[in-house]
Amino acid sequence: MVAGNWKMNGDIVSNERLLNAVRHGLEGAPLPGVDVLVCPPFPYLSQAASWLGNTAVAWGAQNVSAFPNGAYTGEVSATMLADLGCRWVIVGHSERRQLSGETDQVVAAKVEMALAQNLGVIVCVGETLQEREAGQAEAVLGRQVDAVVPVVAKLAPERLVIAYEPVWAIGTGRTASPEMAQDAHSFIRGRLAAGGYAAAGSVRILYGGSVKSANAASLFAMPDIDGGLIGGAALVAEDFLGICRAAAVR
Ligand code: 13P
Repeated sequence: MVAGNWKMNGDIVSNERLLNAVRHGLEGAPLPGVDVLVCPPFPYLSQAASWLGNTAVAWGAQNVSAFPNGAYTGEVSATMLADLGCRWVIVGHSERRQLSGETDQVVAAKVEMALAQNLGVIVCVGETLQEREAGQAEAVLGRQVDAVVPVVAKLAPERLVIAYEPVWAIGTGRTASPEMAQDAHSFIRGRLAAGGYAAAGSVRILYGGSVKSANAASLFAMPDIDGGLIGGAALVAEDFLGICRAAAVR
């Protein structure tokens, strides 16, 4: 899987160009075996739906409310995302954990809401530089994984994706080495299994953090790296398509 997280970028005109280029790029040279999706900001989900409907490219959201509906000003419910044709939602991105105070409990509640609407979830986990340097990376990843295991326990592995995004690699140009990322992915898979998630072996674990078309192939070659969650490079059609192609030759 290659998922583009557009974050808070884009406008109607530039999105149209990007969606069109991604769509045509993949229609012209389909990549069987690679699930490609884009996650634009909420206001542009219907734009993604109109450009990508009836294509192999899926679309998803970057966040979802932990509540079903009602007096939650500014929130967007899982029901609304399903209504807009989203198949996926990113939950617990580090920017939300850090900037919006999302705790492990909030992340678990959001996952539960998304699953109730049959959305697939891309659950983000990752340690900060300080945590890594203090030797706490596995403790942090373990805690973040453990928080969602109870709510995904019965979920088919096709609908559960974990994204390992070391915070120090996001938007910094500093990518984790393939070996370092592989170690983290293997730890995450083991932790899912230890928590009682029976299908841990077939869950896709994506790497995110400064993935570019030039470094994607070496990351995707690792046995436990099943694709990427792409930020900056997802805003440039040729870069994003290059990463999708790197996933296809894995
Ligand atoms: P960059 O690819 O810009 O480092 O962002 C990664 C990310 O946070 C994707 O969710």
